[in-house]
Amino acid sequence: TSLIHAEVEESYIMIKPDGVQRGLVGEIISRFEKKGFKLKGLKLFQCPKDLAEEHYKDLSSKPFFPKLISYITSGPVVCMAWEGVGVVASARKLIGATNPLQAEPGTIRGDLAVQTGRNVVHGSDSPENGTREIALWFKEGELTEWTPVQTPWLV
Ligand code: TYD
Repeated sequence: TSLIHAEVEESYIMIKPDGVQRGLVGEIISRFEKKGFKLKGLKLFQCPKDLAEEHYKDLSSKPFFPKLISYITSGPVVCMAWEGVGVVASARKLIGATNPLQAEPGTIRGDLAVQTGRNVVHGSDSPENGTREIALWFKEGELTEWTPVQTPWLV
């Protein structure tokens, strides 16, 4: 997943409950906007336990799983679907390492977080999971396909 694919992909990005509680929603959204990706879906949402368990099912055998589920369901999250060329790997770079103490300054986790268990944001780890997670978190009718206005950068 370190490869940047020159293909249009979609990624599920989620601001976790600590990001919402700490007032970081605008800051985090703006990083993806400014990078140049296209927002297709956005909602504030209280995640039920069964959805959190389904989202993180690959980690269900890990010792930290119960804590992870109670963290994700502890308050509202902001669910986002972002589209763009290479968005999956690029978003992972913008987000930074899982452990915020190992995340580079300039990344979201590197700038805004300290603990792995409170690392403020989620990003899909493959294009396949991007599509899977967007389908999991958004209902039909909650996503909007749109074409940006074509304004020349230089006249
Ligand atoms: P993972 O998918 O490995 O990381 P990432 O979110 O960077 O893709 O893990 C999912 C989440 O599980 C991670 O964001 C925070 C939590 N987690 C822990 O609480 N403790 C841990 O030791 C690990 C590896 C993850």
